[in-house]
Amino acid sequence: MAESNSTNSEDKSKVPSVMRAAQQTGFGNVREVLKLSDDVHVPYELEPKQVLVQVYAASINPIDWKTLNGNLSLITRFSFPHIPGKDVAGIVVATGLHAERFCIGDGVYGNLGMSDGSYAEYVRVDESLLSKKPNNITMEEAAAIPLACGTSYQALFNKVSPPLGRQSKILILGGSTATGLYALQLAKATGAFVTVTSSQRNFNLLESLGFSLVHGKPNPDADEKQLHVIDYNEKDFGRELKGEDYDVVYDCVGGRQQWVSAKQVLKRNGQFITIVGDDPKTVLSLKSIISFSSKLIGRKFLSFFGCSHYNYVFHTHEPKSSDLDEIRTKYIETKKVRPLIDTIFDWKKDGIEALYSLYEKSKSGKAQGKLVLRIAD
Ligand SMILES: NC(=O)c1ccc[n+]([C@@H]2O[C@H](COP(=O)([O-])OP(=O)(O)OC[C@H]3O[C@@H](n4cnc5c(N)ncnc54)[C@H](OP(=O)(O)O)[C@@H]3O)[C@@H](O)[C@H]2O)c1
Repeated sequence: MAESNSTNSEDKSKVPSVMRAAQQTGFGNVREVLKLSDDVHVPYELEPKQVLVQVYAASINPIDWKTLNGNLSLITRFSFPHIPGKDVAGIVVATGLHAERFCIGDGVYGNLGMSDGSYAEYVRVDESLLSKKPNNITMEEAAAIPLACGTSYQALFNKVSPPLGRQSKILILGGSTATGLYALQLAKATGAFVTVTSSQRNFNLLESLGFSLVHGKPNPDADEKQLHVIDYNEKDFGRELKGEDYDVVYDCVGGRQQWVSAKQVLKRNGQFITIVGDDPKTVLSLKSIISFSSKLIGRKFLSFFGCSHYNYVFHTHEPKSSDLDEIRTKYIETKKVRPLIDTIFDWKKDGIEALYSLYEKSKSGKAQGKLVLRIAD
């Protein structure tokens, strides 16, 4: 049994000294570099402001497979073996001496940023990254929220100016992506007129949120339960919405064409906010980082000096418990926003195959909602 004299724990005998965890042993293909191990040390030694969480559920995000092959190693700087996983929901089982936000036994959820990963039975986390778990949803649903919902929350509520409201018009590119599904619910909650792009395959998914889908010309007087949709396989949104003067285009798909077409539908000084940029696969070599940075600077330069009529914003998520607190109290517990889950994989039942399926489905770009890993019942 590992112990630390800097830790408060109700009953240390309940926390084992070793755990099951996924370990990435190097960069490469998921089936080559990701393993499940049963003898990983439980990170019991806590800094004063850290807590130890027993993980019940974790969810995957594209960043997990984008970082697997080393293309983002300039940013991630992993040392191996590395435990992947960013989103977590679980129960606090030990607290550092000066941790004060949570008590042992509290349900919590959060995004771990670049620290220890959540594909493990226990994870050590700075308490500032966690928020109380919403009380009206399961652990699996809670794990489906932090990064995807947090990203859209920050993009729509911190980056959009003036704030979204009844008079606003927003176009969400990729309405059926996990980030887009949260974005459309958050935007609808402000009273804004919302249009999304989606393939027909996902119309049922959008309807499952309680919206009736409207096609054709946008009608900003539409009912709040109506959602304006453009099937991106059938129609080019740039041509379809040309001159419609949207205040914001929020891009969850990526690729240069989204930006090019968005300029046709944005009003003067409208905002294009992308969370992906020009390269949806984010195969980041030094060359592509330099190329993307110069395009970004160019687009921002043109926006700033008024040579362009639009503001280009590249948004990256910053883990923040205050945002998760707001998401919980204002949107999840009031049922204005619901997490949608594609599949829950269970590693107790399916072992390492559960993890492989999680990565492969996310990488396919075909997920219909969040992909979740159940770790404890
Ligand atoms: N900057 C940040 O901090 C940040 C944070 C989170 C995510 N991201 C990035 O945001 C992107 C989306 O992530 P996610 O987890 O939300 O995605 P996701 O849930 O994995 O997206 C899957 C969905 O995308 C739809 N889709 C694929 N191509 C599309 C297109 N051209 N137009 C419209 N929809 C399309 C698919 O539907 P169909 O098969 O029907 O097309 C599928 O339902 C990723 O690139 C991710 O890395 C960035």
